[in-house]
Amino acid sequence: MPWVVHRRATSRRVSELSLRFVKRRSISHAARSQGIKSPPQGRCFRRSANLVLYWQDEQFVFENFARQTRISAEPLTCSLLHYCAEWRTFAEICSFLGEFDDSSIRASLKQLCANRMLEIFDGEAPKPNGLQDWTGWNPAAGFFHFSTKDFPFAENPLEDFRGLRRLAKHHPMPVPLKRYAHSRKTKLPRGQFHEQFPKVLKDRRTWRMFGKHAVPLEALAEILRLTFGIQGWVQVPGLGRAAMKTSPSCGCLHPIEAYVLALRVKGLRKGFYHYNAQRHELEWLREGVTRKVLEKNIGHQWWFAKSAFLIVMTAVFGRTRWKYKFPRVYRGILLEAGHLGQTFCLTATWKGLAPFSTIAYQDTQWEKWLGLDGISESVLYLAGAGTRPTDLKNAHMGALRSA
Ligand SMILES: Cc1cc2nc3c(=O)[nH]c(=O)nc-3n(C[C@H](O)[C@H](O)[C@H](O)COP(=O)(O)O)c2cc1C
Repeated sequence: MPWVVHRRATSRRVSELSLRFVKRRSISHAARSQGIKSPPQGRCFRRSANLVLYWQDEQFVFENFARQTRISAEPLTCSLLHYCAEWRTFAEICSFLGEFDDSSIRASLKQLCANRMLEIFDGEAPKPNGLQDWTGWNPAAGFFHFSTKDFPFAENPLEDFRGLRRLAKHHPMPVPLKRYAHSRKTKLPRGQFHEQFPKVLKDRRTWRMFGKHAVPLEALAEILRLTFGIQGWVQVPGLGRAAMKTSPSCGCLHPIEAYVLALRVKGLRKGFYHYNAQRHELEWLREGVTRKVLEKNIGHQWWFAKSAFLIVMTAVFGRTRWKYKFPRVYRGILLEAGHLGQTFCLTATWKGLAPFSTIAYQDTQWEKWLGLDGISESVLYLAGAGTRPTDLKNAHMGALRSA
């Protein structure tokens, strides 16, 4: 049986292996050649499109990265899943696995379906989940995307921080510096940084304490406009209008959308809004959540739940995928969120506010609040700000100081 290993949509050459496995007992291949074309008839099984297989220590792991299910199984499972590239009836599968008895095959199929390794057709086709649009990006981008979602952050972030202090006793914190000790050196002019721009850059800090006052709507509006607003349009011959923003964007496709969770903004009802980047408007979505619920969904970091507003940055992946069919661009989208995050922090600093950013949040919950499917549009980065507190000395470390 020849096996050809190949990857989809990549320009990198992959070695082609031609391995021959010889089975002790001959298996009828007739059923395979009669594989059911869609639409299937009766009850059928098909391999999920989003599987990644790897070894972890001694275990052979099968993972459906889109559903975040993992099983370990015998290598024979791999042959079965390979066989189920198209819809297969139970009879066909039994014929393929000729040496095993029907009841054990039935039980195994049940487990493979329950763990989402196989899809089942039983008169009704499984609904497409949107990931079919990620062809070319998967499995690399999809595997990374889903594997890094909904991380279970510690319920007590202070305990986490204490753990770091214990770690630092034996494994000192790495120094964020590199030098070429033996190279020839060129002294650089130090420059004069008295103007507003360098002052804002130097003043930017992560704040973990906030004032009780509400943030003026004008300040939020300016921050949104300068960070996420469209500054102008440029006509690209043969393509159409491209939006210009204060941050760069891969292919000028601007996949990032901004949402606001207003908690304490003067003149703005509490709740979730979408920022319309062209019209410079907030579009009302829904009521907000209690502080306790918010806290739970930002890594239990109660200090951020006391801010005045949060900004949720999402990516509409299809915009960037229109041009870039390869998974590397997923990195580009993350970098774009980083650009916008920094612009947000700087403009908030310039407005005299206390900004912060975090990736400690429960992705799926935020996506539910915003009505997003997490595939065509997904949350990438959270930021926020409040007014500055009176206790400026402890405002950056906040609760971490007493941990
Ligand atoms: C992507 C990202 C995620 C972060 N997440 C958190 C977080 O969850 N909680 C927190 O207190 N700070 C968070 N920070 C802030 C960093 O701890 C902070 O930037 C760092 O300590 C340096 O301090 P500075 O921002 O005041 O320069 C995050 C920063 C970045 C860039």
